[in-house]
Amino acid sequence: MTEASETEAREFAAGLRSLLEWLHVPGQGARNEVVALVRETLGPAGLDQSVVARELPPFEHVNLQTALDAWTAQEGRSVEVHGVVLPPHFGGIDLQLLMTGEGLPPVRLSAPAVVDLPNGPGSTLACLRMALLLVTDDAGRYLLLVQAPREHEQPVLRVEVAGLPVQRAQAVLAELDRLRRELNVYRGRLVEVTPTPMGTVELTFLDPPDLGRDDVVLPAAVLDRIERHALGVAAHRAGLRAAGQHLKRGLLLYGPPGTGKTHTVRYLLGRMDDYSRLLLTGRSLGAVGSVTELARDLQPAVVVLEDVDLVAADRSFGPGGSPVLFDLLDAMDGAAPDADLLFVLTTNRADLLEPALAARPGRIDVAVDVALPDVAARRRLLQLYGRSVPLELTDDDVASAVERTDGVTASFLKELLRRAVLEALHEQDPLRAVTGRHLSRALDDLLDSTQQVTRTLLGVGADGSLPDGDGAGPALAPPGTPFGHRHSHGPWR
Ligand SMILES: Nc1ncnc2c1ncn2[C@@H]1O[C@H](COP(=O)(O)OP(=O)(O)OP(=O)(O)O)[C@@H](O)[C@H]1O
Ligand SMILES: [Mg+2]
Repeated sequence: MTEASETEAREFAAGLRSLLEWLHVPGQGARNEVVALVRETLGPAGLDQSVVARELPPFEHVNLQTALDAWTAQEGRSVEVHGVVLPPHFGGIDLQLLMTGEGLPPVRLSAPAVVDLPNGPGSTLACLRMALLLVTDDAGRYLLLVQAPREHEQPVLRVEVAGLPVQRAQAVLAELDRLRRELNVYRGRLVEVTPTPMGTVELTFLDPPDLGRDDVVLPAAVLDRIERHALGVAAHRAGLRAAGQHLKRGLLLYGPPGTGKTHTVRYLLGRMDDYSRLLLTGRSLGAVGSVTELARDLQPAVVVLEDVDLVAADRSFGPGGSPVLFDLLDAMDGAAPDADLLFVLTTNRADLLEPALAARPGRIDVAVDVALPDVAARRRLLQLYGRSVPLELTDDDVASAVERTDGVTASFLKELLRRAVLEALHEQDPLRAVTGRHLSRALDDLLDSTQQVTRTLLGVGADGSLPDGDGAGPALAPPGTPFGHRHSHGPWR
């Protein structure tokens, strides 16, 4: 090797070393303002401690913020909040990286970014998205990093604690858990659980329905039974507990489409205003496990599982039955018996549910058949939905309508009155009187054999037929066919 090339090699090595030093992140990191703040706050002793992280489902974001606000306000604690910014598409960060400065994406300090989330039916709370909390209290000086769930990336909410011995850090997280439970914004509310594309769920506040007992047309014995099972426990909670009896209960409402299962549940929920009410339908039924946990925290609580046949029918995991349905039953079973939890299940395919329920008994204590309206019920339904209509019907008109509607659903009768009003409006506008003639014309039209699909959509005769001699055409689609197996989720919004 020549003299010159040795010098070159030495220069090259020195250059490489300085390049590596420059690339070496601690050196970089020291110049980073976030890393500098973290290191300075924690000091050498704090930097030696493990980071303790807690992951929470996205719907806990608003509860976490509520808890943090209360925690910050506790006596003897001062909290300084800094926002942390990452360039777009850099995803997340963790506190460990900020402590060591290793492998760090370009981070900056800023005013904390917040997202405004509903914390009640008509209010919102500004919730931190990515923030560093510098805390001083009797545990010492330490840091919290809060990271909101990120759409399309990491659908979890993360809180990390650094600068404390593990047990102390755990105690901080446990205190935040306690506050989250205690101050839970979903307590006592009616909340709809909907799935997100990320496979998580979203919770939306709904206004409780305002339905009276008279708005629900069911045989008195049936409604009594439902009410006793759903509402009766609240009055005797202490007594039942004292006598060692369980409070957890399951109510199944089954029957053809349009007979009032959802309607009845809405009525119950409207009355259970001291309960936390969680409503799951369709794809969100898959989240029953985490929702039941939430319900346990929020008890007394009702978990409504609407149209459970949607998951019961899903046999994609083999002939043993649907896993989602079993999750659902497991979740119901997992909750402590003395928890004041009511599960209300609705379905129009009791046949699909029966095998699973028979295989795992004890989840449902009362199953109620919500049947097609009988003569008396059809009379009441005409009255109910004719309340705001200027009806001028003779006894014969009513008797004839009631007779001709044998086998139809409650929702059909509601539609019948709407059509009768339309018939009358064709002749008179403004509306003066809806007579038997209008009612019977509307009925002719609805029962017309050429209107089979319309009738099926309205749930006429879920047993598949109307009585002879009423002009009905061929049998209607039986339950289980696309039209016969109808689900209406409209009423919840
Ligand atoms: N028993 C009833 N009493 C009063 N109104 C009713 C009754 N049943 C149905 N209705 C009316 O018909 C509408 C549709 O009924 P609902 O959605 O409760 O049917 P469902 O039994 O839940 O049907 P599905 O099986 O398709 O879910 C209700 O919003 C209500 O206005
Ligand atoms: Mg329904």
